[in-house]
Amino acid sequence: MNRPYLKIDQVSKVFNRGSMSTEVLKDISLDIERGEFVSIIGHSGCGKSTLLNIIAGLTPATIGGILLEDREVNSPGPDRAVVFQNHSLLPWLTVYDNVRLAVDKVFGRQKSRAERHAWTMHNLDLVQMGHAADKRPSEVSGGMKQRVGIARALAMEPKVLLLDEPFGALDALTRAHLQDSVMQIHATLGNTVIMITHDVDEAVLLSDRIVMMTNGPSARVGEVLTVPLARPRKRLELVTNATYTKSRESVLKFLYERHQFVEAA
Ligand SMILES: Nc1ncnc2c1ncn2[C@@H]1O[C@H](COP(=O)(O)OP(=O)(O)OP(=O)(O)O)[C@@H](O)[C@H]1O
Ligand SMILES: [Mg+2]
Repeated sequence: MNRPYLKIDQVSKVFNRGSMSTEVLKDISLDIERGEFVSIIGHSGCGKSTLLNIIAGLTPATIGGILLEDREVNSPGPDRAVVFQNHSLLPWLTVYDNVRLAVDKVFGRQKSRAERHAWTMHNLDLVQMGHAADKRPSEVSGGMKQRVGIARALAMEPKVLLLDEPFGALDALTRAHLQDSVMQIHATLGNTVIMITHDVDEAVLLSDRIVMMTNGPSARVGEVLTVPLARPRKRLELVTNATYTKSRESVLKFLYERHQFVEAA
């Protein structure tokens, strides 16, 4: 039998606050193949970050669980690296040291000092940040900080890369540029990626599959759309591509016709 690489198995999540309890996620199941790029899209507050945090092992599921290569994961580990919406670099360390810290933690025993240095630089170069290795986070732009966050995650050689709206805080041009970098890295390294996004175009451009979540509480997987576009994908060529337009329309219809955003009371 062909087992899935990553299995999200009947995950439900209830948050308790005092005597109040809210079911945020209900019975979420999803199988993800090795090397797949999957996006999760849904309205604000439906539980996307909660789901990503459960996969990362940062939040426990109330029911169900996560299996990575047939093993249950319920605590954080370098096999699942997270990039958050707002970069989480340590401000007092240089760009280089922010990445090096993660490299030392994961490869401290396996790699020599020289190898760890080379690996740190290699990953900074992957995101075109090698030139700024000695700068501090406050001295580089928002897009550059996000690049360093991605380099740090990649440097851990995670089995699964978890991205929580990694480009959310960036302007459109920087965002497009970083999307291209992520596509290129995915093509070169073949990482398994789960990315949360609010952006329909971003989801279609980057994903093999788009998981659309219904509104919370008790959010579920509403629909899963396969994006049958060949890679490499070029954003300019896709503008007039019928498959692209159709995929985009399916997601928009899901979000704005069938599951309109309703502000919680
Ligand atoms: N630690 C917590 N305790 C209680 N409730 C929580 C906790 N974390 C999240 N929630 C609630 O769970 C729901 C889902 O939150 P979550 O952050 O997962 O949504 P989201 O889909 O990522 O939203 P956004 O798109 O705005 O980032 C929200 O109603 C939120 O208030
Ligand atoms: Mg979120």
